[in-house]
Amino acid sequence: PRIVVLISGSGSNLQALIEAQSHDRLGGEIAAVISNVPDAYGLKRARDAGIDAVALPHREYDNREAYDGALIKVIERHEPDLVVLAGFMRILSPRFVQRFIGRVLNLHPSLLPAYQGLDTHARVLADGVANHGCSVHFVTEELDSGPVVIQAALDVTEDDTPATLKAKVHAREHLILPIAVNWFLQGRLRYAGQSVTMDGTPL
Ligand code: GRF
Repeated sequence: PRIVVLISGSGSNLQALIEAQSHDRLGGEIAAVISNVPDAYGLKRARDAGIDAVALPHREYDNREAYDGALIKVIERHEPDLVVLAGFMRILSPRFVQRFIGRVLNLHPSLLPAYQGLDTHARVLADGVANHGCSVHFVTEELDSGPVVIQAALDVTEDDTPATLKAKVHAREHLILPIAVNWFLQGRLRYAGQSVTMDGTPL
């Protein structure tokens, strides 16, 4: 099975997927990595791993529709079974979501449905909540709202800062993303509208 990974930044989660693949723990191969940020370090990680690395700068397109059209074309060229958003910092249009519905997973740095959107670590600290973490979910048209596949949680401590929380969440992201991808590629996950089943049982 083939995976296309979309990134915007460092790509440490992409690196986790690359490592999982090299240890036969991913259940498929990363066919291409696409970034909307042309100099994203994650593209270098892809190149170093011999993976097709594509820069698709959004500033070269007039609007979201035009960009998503180009993005769909590049993705389809690689005929993926699964598209993974690993720190892809763009909102995808309904057209894109419907084109790949049921086979796009997104990694989000919070315990969804709490803290959708950006700056989750700072918001968690500001609210003084006791727990935080990360989630992998199916992408639907509504931002960060698709059914959750897997989460990792952690305790927020007194002396946590956005930076320390980010680091703790990051470590857990590197664990749960490869697991979710492997479950999907093994055919164990079924996206069903606002829910997902695992081996036939609702998650
Ligand atoms: C991750 O923390 C992810 O949750 C967020 O962006 C970050 C990407 O990090 N959406 P990296 O590029 O995988 O290192």
